[in-house]
Amino acid sequence: MTSARVGRPAPADVRTVTCVGAGVIGGGWVAYFLARGYRVVAWDPAEDAEQRLRHLVSAAWPALTELGLADGASLEHLTVEHDLATACAQADFVQESAPEDLELKRALLARIDAATPVEVVISSSTSGYAMSEMQTACAHPERTVVGHPFNPPYLIPLVEVVGGAATSPEAVAWASDFFRHTGKSVITMEREVPGFIANRLQEALWREALHMVAAGEATVEQIDLSITDGPGLRWPVHGPMLTFHLAGGQGGMAHMLDHFGPSLQSPWTRLVAAELTPALRDAVVDGCDREADGRSIDDLVAERDRGVIAILRALGRA
Ligand SMILES: NC(=O)c1ccc[n+]([C@@H]2O[C@H](COP(=O)([O-])OP(=O)(O)OC[C@H]3O[C@@H](n4cnc5c(N)ncnc54)[C@H](O)[C@@H]3O)[C@@H](O)[C@H]2O)c1
Repeated sequence: MTSARVGRPAPADVRTVTCVGAGVIGGGWVAYFLARGYRVVAWDPAEDAEQRLRHLVSAAWPALTELGLADGASLEHLTVEHDLATACAQADFVQESAPEDLELKRALLARIDAATPVEVVISSSTSGYAMSEMQTACAHPERTVVGHPFNPPYLIPLVEVVGGAATSPEAVAWASDFFRHTGKSVITMEREVPGFIANRLQEALWREALHMVAAGEATVEQIDLSITDGPGLRWPVHGPMLTFHLAGGQGGMAHMLDHFGPSLQSPWTRLVAAELTPALRDAVVDGCDREADGRSIDDLVAERDRGVIAILRALGRA
């Protein structure tokens, strides 16, 4: 049942955020919203969800504290509810981060929609589904949007916002304003594209990497080193377009394209996805284990967080 409110709260008036699904991404959102001073209500059907969530939030808190907590931010402001409807009824904003399964999301969004005050915007963390496909069972699809984050949502600024066929432009604008108000960097997309913008780009890179591992052309370690000690160092400063603008010297992108364009036909080939054979799966998994070299996931998370904070600080974007 939806209850009527006197209009949608202004983005700056949001006090309570409900996070549905509390795994890697949902937990990251919980940590982020707590650090920004919100009251957060979480719901996740897994038996061990609360324990996993509190572990994730505790692991993220040192990084968030180092970056600076909002006034009044506290771990005490997290409530884990055991009933979805109770969690949604309290929301000024809902962020859904359940598993990437279209039928599951369609049914879940309908349940969230039925339990959330009708003016409240509902956002999905989906990595690639169009909201048009997910909102079909909602009674109020006009307030459903995609708010696609990056792991970890508590440190990576970008959120891609896009509506579906039945979403109102006002809800898309509201969600964009709200994420911006919380401190996020927002791309508001005019149209739905599978994988949005950033995932299409990172999946293209990954697709090429999987082909190279499958063909024995490069190891997992070489692929990672090729980015961390190569182009990856430039990307936090300039994206791939401005990076190549500089590759053209004083002639910029025009010279880059005129000079290198013909020879780029070969690396520009659009490969089809590599077949995910058991052998390729094992090669990638084994390679990652070798590269981790005894570092646990918690060790790697801490290492990543320290590094991302250092980069954001160095660039004056913390
Ligand atoms: N992992 C990433 O890097 C990443 C990045 C951006 C977006 N996303 C998206 O975020 C969403 C969550 O992905 P994740 O990586 O956190 O997955 P995850 O497996 O870590 O977490 C999913 C959580 O959802 C819970 N869950 C299971 N069934 C549920 C249901 N019916 N309702 C609500 N919760 C349920 C699980 O218990 C689990 O805690 C997906 O849509 C994914 O595409 C993931």
